[in-house]
Amino acid sequence: MKITFLGHAGLYVETRHGSILCDPWFNPAYFASWVPFPSNQELDPAAIGSPDYLYVSHVHRDHLDRDFLRDHVSKDATVILPDHPLDLVERELETLGFTRFVQTKTNVPLELDGLRVMTVCTVFPADGPLGDSALAIDDGEVRIFDQNDARPVDLDGTHAFGHFDAHFVQFSGAIWYPMVYRFPPQMKSALGRKKRETQMARSLRYSRQVGADWTIPMAGPPCFLDDDLFSFNDFGDDPANVFPDQTVYLEYMRSQGEGSGRLMIPGSVAQLSPGSLEIEHPHDPDAIFGDKRAYLEAFGERMRPRIEAERAAWPRGQADILAELTEWFEPVLDLADRTAAAINGRVLLDLGDPQVVLDFWTRRVYAWKGDECEYRFWIDPALVEQLILDHDEDWVNRLFLSCRFEAERRGSYNEYLYSFFKCLSAERIEYAEGCYSEQLPEREFFECAGYRVQRRCPHLKADLARFGVVEDGILTCTLHGWQFELATGRCLTSDDRRLFSEPLEVAAEQ
Ligand code: FES
Repeated sequence: MKITFLGHAGLYVETRHGSILCDPWFNPAYFASWVPFPSNQELDPAAIGSPDYLYVSHVHRDHLDRDFLRDHVSKDATVILPDHPLDLVERELETLGFTRFVQTKTNVPLELDGLRVMTVCTVFPADGPLGDSALAIDDGEVRIFDQNDARPVDLDGTHAFGHFDAHFVQFSGAIWYPMVYRFPPQMKSALGRKKRETQMARSLRYSRQVGADWTIPMAGPPCFLDDDLFSFNDFGDDPANVFPDQTVYLEYMRSQGEGSGRLMIPGSVAQLSPGSLEIEHPHDPDAIFGDKRAYLEAFGERMRPRIEAERAAWPRGQADILAELTEWFEPVLDLADRTAAAINGRVLLDLGDPQVVLDFWTRRVYAWKGDECEYRFWIDPALVEQLILDHDEDWVNRLFLSCRFEAERRGSYNEYLYSFFKCLSAERIEYAEGCYSEQLPEREFFECAGYRVQRRCPHLKADLARFGVVEDGILTCTLHGWQFELATGRCLTSDDRRLFSEPLEVAAEQ
C-alpha cells in the first residue's frame, strides 16, 4: 500500500485494488482563518484527482473542501459515505456533482472489489457537525485506520476489523477555546495548558487502544496566517498553546515511552507492507519546523493577497441583521425545548450595531436593552451578514472555528449552546432534541387520535407532537414525510422501523 500525505487529514491511498482519496483540504477555511499546515500548495492536484473512491469523513470545511472537490476531483469517483443519520455529506457532494455513492454501516466491513473498508461513525450533536467518522482500509496485505479527528467511544468494532499496521490520528487542537475568551491572562494560560495536555493524552490513549505498529499524527494543527490571528500558532513549544505541531506530539509520544510515531508532511510518501513502513519526504522537514516562525511568515506573505481578497469580499450593510435573525432563529428556538432548558439564559451577539439577544427563556430574539446575559460574543457584523446571506445552518462550521470573535461567559462551558449553533434549522434541531430525549431514562409519549404514541419519529427523531399529522389512521411526520399506521405501528415508508402506539383505553388499563 502506498500512502501520500496531503496535509492536515488528507490522504491519497493507492492499493492493488484501487485508490481512495480521503479528506483533501487545500483552500483556506472558516473565513480564511485556517490554512493547511505545513503548506500543501506545492502538491499537484492532477496526481490525486482521479481516485477510484472518495471518502469525506464529515462536513467540516477542513475535511470537505468544496472548491477543491468541485474543481479537481473526478465525479466518476465512488463516494464511501459515513453512516450518519443526517446525510449532510451526501447532500454536499451531490451538489458538487458526485453521483456514485456507496453507503456504509458503522462498524460493518464492506467489500469493494478486493478492498475491505469500514467506517466508524459518531452521531451525537456534540460529534463534529452532527456526525464524524473514521475509515479502516484493508487491501488484503496491510490495514490502516484513518481516525482523523473522530472520537469513537467504542473500539470493539475497530478491533474486530483486524490488526492495524498504521494509525492516522488527530493530536492537536481544532477549537476556539480558550483563546477567544476574555479570561484573565493567567487563567487563560492555565486553561490552555490543560487543554494541550488533555488532547495529546487522549490521542496517545487512542494510539495505545488501536495498537497499530505505527502512528502518524494528522488532522491538525492548521496555521493562522491572517495578521489578526497569527499569534494563535504554536511557537517555541508554548505549553499554553492548544495547537502543538507534529514534532511536539512525536516528542510527547517518546516521552511517554511510545516509539511508534512517525512524521509525514504534505507530499511524504509511505510504502507500507507487512512489518515495514518506509517514508520518503519531499524535502527536509527541518525547513518547516527548524524555524517555524520564519516559515509561517514567508507562507503568510504568499497567502496574503488571497486572505485580503476574501476579507474585502465580506458583505457590509447588505442584510437587516436583527430582522433576519429574528425570522430565522425564533422558529428554531420554538422547537428547542431541551436545548433551551439546558442553556437556561440569554446570549448576546454583540455586533456593535446591532446587539442581538437570543433569549432561551422566552425563545425570542430582540435588540439588547442592557439585560443580564450569561454568554456574550463580540463578532464583526460582516461575518454574521455572510452567514445570513448563505443561510448557513451550522455556525460552528464557519464562525466559531474561525476564531474570529471574542467571548465571555458566566459559569462553565455549555455544550448545548454550541450544539444549538450547529442546528439552525427545524431538521437539525429536531435531531438534536431527539438525541437528548433518548438519553432520558424513560421514553416520552403523547396522545394522538385516540392512541398513546412515542413522541419521537423513528426516522430522525422529530417531535411528532409538533410535526405529526393524522389522516385516516395514518400518522405522517411532516419533516421528511415518513408514515406510520397507528393501529399497528407499522411504518409504511421503511421496512426496518416501527412506531410504538397503543389505543388509549389499553394504556389506561395498565
Ligand atoms: S424525522 Fe424524518 S420523517 Fe420524521
